[in-house]
Amino acid sequence: MLPVLCVNGPNLNRLGSRQPEIYGKATLADLEAQVVHWGEELGFEVTFVQSNREGDLVEAIHSAHGWAGVVINPAALGHYSFALRDAITSVDVPVVEVHLSNVRRRARWRHRTVITSVASANIFGRGIEGYRAALRHLAVDRRHPAQTHRYGSHPDQVIDVRGDAGAPGVVLFHGGFWMDTWGRDTTESWAADLADHGIRSANVEYRRLDSGGGRRSSITDAVRGLDAAIRLLATDRVVVIGHSAGVHLALHALDQRADGISLVVGVGGVLDLVAAVDTGLGNGAVAAFDPDGRTTPLDLPPPSVPVRLVHGEGDTVVPVAQSRTYAEHFSAADVEVAVIEGEGHFQALSARSRTWEAARSLVLEGLGLP
Ligand code: DQA
Repeated sequence: MLPVLCVNGPNLNRLGSRQPEIYGKATLADLEAQVVHWGEELGFEVTFVQSNREGDLVEAIHSAHGWAGVVINPAALGHYSFALRDAITSVDVPVVEVHLSNVRRRARWRHRTVITSVASANIFGRGIEGYRAALRHLAVDRRHPAQTHRYGSHPDQVIDVRGDAGAPGVVLFHGGFWMDTWGRDTTESWAADLADHGIRSANVEYRRLDSGGGRRSSITDAVRGLDAAIRLLATDRVVVIGHSAGVHLALHALDQRADGISLVVGVGGVLDLVAAVDTGLGNGAVAAFDPDGRTTPLDLPPPSVPVRLVHGEGDTVVPVAQSRTYAEHFSAADVEVAVIEGEGHFQALSARSRTWEAARSLVLEGLGLP
């Protein structure tokens, strides 16, 4: 088992009774018990430190030098503690920043943290599950460390590149209904699996709703992100993969820049925005992003490269009809749908799902690999 440190900052000892409508009902002990279990599943032995004093947190980080990773919820200190930021950069250990609440949707002073850019990943607004995502990120990064590149000045305009230089490449667009709670960590198990298969990946982050995103800026980022990703991959064989809302973005990016792309693979894609708004998809998230469905991929010109859609028949988040409608609409183009029996929307994000296996086979084919 590899050692991981989990650090919780000021007032998190009050979890359970502290503003449960924001932080949930679980106590710190409940949280720690969950994290121990999730850590064990990934081969990590997690040690915990909680303190209300800045110096204790700084020293805890120092003590983890050389460990497999640190998961830190810095609490309020994250918003202003440069000592904590310096502590993180003073040690050789990947640090993942977690916040239970969505700090970007709360009071303005909480929107930014001073450790965002020195953390290996930032996860917020997913409650205790965010700690699990942080551990998963550490597990992926141990196997296939990422190099993060900027393609703009906003903190979300970044791309993680994994895998060997010169290998055939894949560009990934994660989903999550363009909401800032969901980030590129959700497609990291795909990136790791692709690296295991000798494929280099560029996992694109983009501005999302409530964090500078919206139908115009998120699409602009997808286009710029794709452009930057292709330059970073520096190969003439590229496949683009999207998940969920990331398929909508991938198709918009493709519409602007198709050079060098041999295939687009869309997994559980949001493709018919008018129907998605009408049926309240994502609990109204699609309507919040694009109320009149103006950016629906159905209104784009027919795709200029082959598009393969893979969709779980049991997907209750984004129904399979979304992929079928797109394929019917563009039946004159090279578009095909594969329906995977019995699998759902989030299952596809596991590299062991049948949905991903189907998607990976298409990717290998698209890259001309055995
Ligand atoms: C917090 C968010 C911080 O803004 C706040 O000061 C906390 C908890 C969170 O987990 O959501 O104490 O880090």
